[in-house]
Amino acid sequence: MSRRGKFITFEGLDGTGKSTQMRKLAAVLRDVGHEVIETREPGGTATGEKIRKVLLDSGTAGLSPLAEMALMFASRVQHIAEVIEPGLATGTIVLCDRFTDSTEAYQGSGRKLGSAAVLELHHVLCGDLQPEMTILLDSNAGASISRARRRNQRDSKSSGRTHDENRFEQETRAFFGRVREGYMAIAKREPARVVMVDARGTPEQTHRKIVEVVRRKLKL
Ligand code: TYD
Repeated sequence: MSRRGKFITFEGLDGTGKSTQMRKLAAVLRDVGHEVIETREPGGTATGEKIRKVLLDSGTAGLSPLAEMALMFASRVQHIAEVIEPGLATGTIVLCDRFTDSTEAYQGSGRKLGSAAVLELHHVLCGDLQPEMTILLDSNAGASISRARRRNQRDSKSSGRTHDENRFEQETRAFFGRVREGYMAIAKREPARVVMVDARGTPEQTHRKIVEVVRRKLKL
């Protein structure tokens, strides 16, 4: 039987460049011979992508914070069953753009549902699955959110889609302030798992920091 793979998650506020960094790390890991899966939440499976549409579409009006949290976990449970666990079981490195830390930061802290509820659901629904390592990209909150807004507006226009992914970007500065605090609290609580990477430099500078830390901590 092959050795169990490694689960690495990327976290941070909207617009910090997580997706770009994940893609760049995947390329480096593949170059040295690893099998790599790149995936994301909410989403990552056919069912999860349908749930993602409901969650991110600014046309989804009046979604209660608890329903929002439940949908994030519904997508995640399916994702673990269909993609993450089978990947890890066959020795693959699974790179995931957001995981339960996002729910703790956005729903627990941003929506004020509290960390305890999120961690309890994670225990019951996800069997407490923990990433070997979480890369938390930290950058200037205001600049990141503006970048995410511009990108999503551009994407929804150019694709001619009937739905968009702007629901969260319409949140207030206070909301994102709480999300950032939520992330800081997780990083402080779990220093062995969560590595904060300063993402204020160029994408290439951030990439080099990530490669260095992944090599050092996971010996990949
Ligand atoms: P993502 O596509 O990663 O957005 P971005 O590329 O802008 O960072 O994530 C979509 C949004 O979903 C993002 O605003 C954060 C939110 N989210 C939650 O609120 N809770 C969660 O558990 C997850 C996974 C995402």
